[in-house]
Parts: sequence; C-alpha cells; structure tokens
Amino acid sequence: MRIVLVGSGYVGLVSGACFAEFGIDVTCVDRDAAKIASLEAGVMPIYEPGLEDLVSRNVRAGRLAFSGDLPAAVAAASAVFIAVGTPTRRGDGHADLTYVFAAAREIAASLRGYTVIVTKSTVPVGTGRKVAAIIAEARPDLAEGRDFDVVSNPEFLREGSAITDFMHPDRVVIGLTDGSEAARAVMRELYRPLFLRDTPILFTGIETAELIKYAANSFLATKISFINEIADLCEKLGANVQEVATGIGLDGRIGKKFLHPGPGFGGSCFPKDCLALVRIGREAQSPLSIVEAVVSFNDARKRQMAERIIAACGGSVAGKRIALLGLTFKPNTDDMRESPSLVVVPLLREAGAEVVACDPEGIAEAKKLLPSITYAESASAAAEGADALVLLTEWNQFRALDWAEMKRRMRGHVVVDLRNIYRPDQMTAAGFAYHSIGRPS
Ligand SMILES: NC(=O)c1ccc[n+]([C@@H]2O[C@H](COP(=O)([O-])OP(=O)(O)OC[C@H]3O[C@@H](n4cnc5c(N)ncnc54)[C@H](O)[C@@H]3O)[C@@H](O)[C@H]2O)c1
Repeated sequence: MRIVLVGSGYVGLVSGACFAEFGIDVTCVDRDAAKIASLEAGVMPIYEPGLEDLVSRNVRAGRLAFSGDLPAAVAAASAVFIAVGTPTRRGDGHADLTYVFAAAREIAASLRGYTVIVTKSTVPVGTGRKVAAIIAEARPDLAEGRDFDVVSNPEFLREGSAITDFMHPDRVVIGLTDGSEAARAVMRELYRPLFLRDTPILFTGIETAELIKYAANSFLATKISFINEIADLCEKLGANVQEVATGIGLDGRIGKKFLHPGPGFGGSCFPKDCLALVRIGREAQSPLSIVEAVVSFNDARKRQMAERIIAACGGSVAGKRIALLGLTFKPNTDDMRESPSLVVVPLLREAGAEVVACDPEGIAEAKKLLPSITYAESASAAAEGADALVLLTEWNQFRALDWAEMKRRMRGHVVVDLRNIYRPDQMTAAGFAYHSIGRPS
C-alpha cells in the first residue's frame, strides 16, 4: 500500500517513518521546501530520539521518500493523511483550520481512484465532514461514485517518546464517516501490525473520534493543574505534594501518571487543545467550566513561577544574575511552543534580572524567541557568577549536578527547583537556600 503524509512536522514525519517501518510505501510531503531538502539530505529538521535512525533505515529500504510535489504523491496513494498544524487562531481561541482546509483543497485536485483522506491533525468536531464537503465540491466526479472517504485518526504520540508511542500506543482511534466499510478495510490494513499485537483499535463515528482527542488532552491538562493547585495548598499547610501524589496515585481509579507538580503545562498541544475545547463547548452551548478554569489557572501559574523566583531571591532580582536550566516545555525535545520559559524569562528580564540559560536541544529555537538573554553550553557554565539557579525543565543532564562545583561557581546560593528533581534535606545540607514545589523545605 502507498500512502502520503501531508505535513512533515513532529506528527507527519514520525507517523510516516513508523508506517514505513510497518512495511508501507510512504511519501512525506511538506510545503516547506527547506524542510524537504533537509530530509532528503538526511538531516532531521526536529530533534526526536531515534528518529534519524528510523528515517535513514526506511529511506535505504526504499519505503520512505520526501517530496514537495503533493499532486504527484497524492495521485499514487490509497490513503492521504493530513498532518498539518492547527494552531490557536488569534483572538478567539479556536483552532485555526486554514492549513487543514488548504491541504484538503490541494489533495482534492489530485485524487485518482478510491482514496481515504485521514485527518491526523487535531481538529474540532465537524472538521472531517467539512473536509469531505471541500473535496466533494472540488471533485463532483468522485463524490458521485463515492470514490473517497474521510476518516479521523487522531494522534496521541508525545514528543520525546514519539516513536515508541506510535509503535506501542495504548489505543488507536479511527472515526469513520457513515460506517464506511471500504475506509475501515484500508485503515485495518495500515494498522495491521498493531492489530496483530492486540492493541485496542477503537472504531467510532467521525465526530466521536475528533472529540476523543480533545477530551483526552484536556483531561490530562486538568490532572496536571489539579496537582499544581494541591501543591500550592501543601505549601500553605506544611504537607508534601510528592507524598500526596503517591497516596492518591496508588488508587487505581486515579493512577499515578500526570501527577507531577511543576511550572504549568506547555507544548504545542495541551494549551491550544484546551482552548479549542472551551471554544467548541461554548459554540455548542455546553460550556466546559472545568477546562475553562484549567486554562486560566495554567496561564496564571506560569506567571507565578517568576514571582516565586523573585521571592526566593529576597523580593528583587534587579541586577542579579539567574542561571536557568532548561528552556523547552519538557525534556527530550527541541520544541519551545508555549514553554513556561517563554513567560518566566521575560518577567525576570522586566524585573531587571540578567538571565544565562542552557538547554541540551532547545537553544537554537530559544534564541529566536528569547533574544535578550545569554546562552551557555552547560549547566556549570550557566552557573558561573549566578546569584540564583532555577531548574525549569527536567532534562536528565540536570538530574545529577555536581552541587559542590555549582556552589564554587555561583556567587549566591539560591536554588529554585520547579520540577522537584532534588531533595530538600540534601540541598540544604549542601549549603543552598533551596525552594521547590509543594514540599516543606
Ligand atoms: N506535536 C505533537 O506532539 C502532537 C501530538 C499529537 C497531535 N498533534 C497534532 O498534529 C498536528 C500537527 O502537529 P505538529 O506538531 O506535527 O505540527 P508541525 O508544525 O511540526 O508540522 C506541520 C507541518 O505541516 C506543513 N504544512 C502546512 N500546510 C501544508 C500543506 N498545505 N502542504 C504540505 N505541508 C503543509 C508545515 O510546513 C509543517 O512542516 C496538529 O494538529 C497537532 O495538534 C501534535
């Protein structure tokens, strides 16, 4: 079977490479010519562990190719995945579907023979049917003989573990329009290796599949915000949020994942998907008050992290040097989208701090977004002469720092650990004024 991924970003490129690994002939298309040129030269445009090996192995095997020529690729395909971005639309919080609809129009013009068009992008309920309408309008010849189907197949992979997530998902969700058997057969064939491995494959209606993705992300975001708010309460009451998280997480109905307190969630999905679900709820006159509260709590939390750092520095950071470890929204990615650092750093700068930051993979992107700070090669270089050190992203590189060396390099002794990587008793014994989240210091 031959398929096309339209959009070769985090989702399109990883999904395309994984489908190729399943034995399918895949062409990853992108309208960004520089991205395609880079992929053709064997240089990955994103950082994702294991991706380069997976891509080069499948390119060598002749199962994976890259192209800027969407019409040629689509004409030869049995299934075409739309994996373009759906960012937040400026002004109203809705998902911006410009790229999805533009891709649908381009795809429509090139379809030959029965093809399944699959929305893999995260799209609001009703988008699949709008994509079908765009194609039917552009190609009445295909609509008449029902020579295409639109399917929703939301993606649940996480950046940083995207390949394992795609290859070993908790479930695959496939939303069919009007129960199309032809589309079901194509999707079963594509995910055959996962069927054989007994991965739960959930066939639903297209609207249900679209909503599952938003409901899943909003639920996870709610869990994070819940434990963050409990962490704040712990600080007031002298309780320990780590122990509270363990104590509630051992209850099978709650589960221990996503109960790590921190500086608020970021990334390319949770913030925009929560906002979009709020919008979907309002438009359907079925408001989602819990998700609305999560959105405003999380925005405020990122700002509060800057206040927390300033308070730890004695109420002012004017003229102080702050070493910031970690800029990406989570470890093992170079993705800076909606990262807490994008809120915290400007607030520290406004308050007069000098910021020296380091990040194993995020610096190239961070330099475009945070041009007014200094970048260091390593944690110890960032610590040189710093009055305070802030741990913002829990990269493995920051999990076993040599604190004796850090102390020698730093001018001050304040450490603000926004990921609770270290133990308060050890840090205090090492001579630091240590601040973490939701734990007695
Ligand atoms: N990043 C994640 O972890 C993740 C996980 C699950 C779902 N999603 C969803 O998947 C979708 C894609 O996200 P992403 O992070 O991969 O985005 P991305 O920005 O990394 O990639 C999108 C790509 O699509 C390309 N593109 C846009 N319009 C095009 C067109 N008409 N033809 C060809 N290429 C086109 C862009 O040039 C870009 O390279 C979004 O809806 C997102 O919400 C993302």
